[in-house]
Amino acid sequence: MSQANAPINTAPSEPDHVPRHVAIIMDGNGRWAAERGLPRSEGHRRGVEALRKTVRAAGEIGVSYLTIFSFSSENWSRPAAEIRDLMGLLRRFIRNDLAELHQNRVRVRVIGERDDLDPDIRRLLEEAEQLTQNNDKLTLVVAFNYGARQEIARAARRIANEVAAGRVQPAEVTADLLSQNLDTADMPDPDLLIRTSGEQRISNFLLWQMAYSELVFVPIYWPEFDRVALENAIAEYCRRERRFGGLAARTGS
Ligand code: FPP
Repeated sequence: MSQANAPINTAPSEPDHVPRHVAIIMDGNGRWAAERGLPRSEGHRRGVEALRKTVRAAGEIGVSYLTIFSFSSENWSRPAAEIRDLMGLLRRFIRNDLAELHQNRVRVRVIGERDDLDPDIRRLLEEAEQLTQNNDKLTLVVAFNYGARQEIARAARRIANEVAAGRVQPAEVTADLLSQNLDTADMPDPDLLIRTSGEQRISNFLLWQMAYSELVFVPIYWPEFDRVALENAIAEYCRRERRFGGLAARTGS
């Protein structure tokens, strides 16, 4: 056990300190496996187990939105066998876990570019979204074939078409309008981003939406992540002072 998932004294956050939206870069599956002499596929398989625990814990703690970076637009550059593996894990995750997610009132949303995905995966994603659309406990946002620059470019293209058609004036192109054209249009921005594995990068994840997110980098590999690690990251978030470009509350007058 590393410090990241060793229990600390800070009590799990009080309701008003629970971040409404937590985003996670689940990094380190491959290194976790390599250090144990296991194939990378085993690291990803254990990564799905960590994901199950984290979704359950986030719901219990009172997080409203949990966004997970499951497959990036750049992951296509990995070996074909690993890509097949990750696609297989997504299929299995939805087939095996959808009923339980639904029972636990989890709403599933998917962000990213769907057109490049196999038709059966597109169908599974749509089925998951449709079945769970009225659930109200936790929204699990699965970023799959997702890249933030690509998402921003898609939004800009949509707005450009509206401008070209004369339905939107150039002066009406505001930050709000751009936000409304992102895949995350109706979701709050992440309050907290967690990245596991010790790497300290954003890697083309939610670039627009994370303008004011608190970033917490934890030194454990994703397969080791669990409820305690999530609580510790939230406790760290609670110690931060968020100013959104303004002055600190106690010095603001
Ligand atoms: C990073 O580890 C993780 C990924 C690229 C994918 C994350 C996927 C899962 C946790 C399992 C799949 C879940 C779903 C729902 C499909 P890495 O391979 O980059 O690790 P490394 O940096 O140590 O090589």
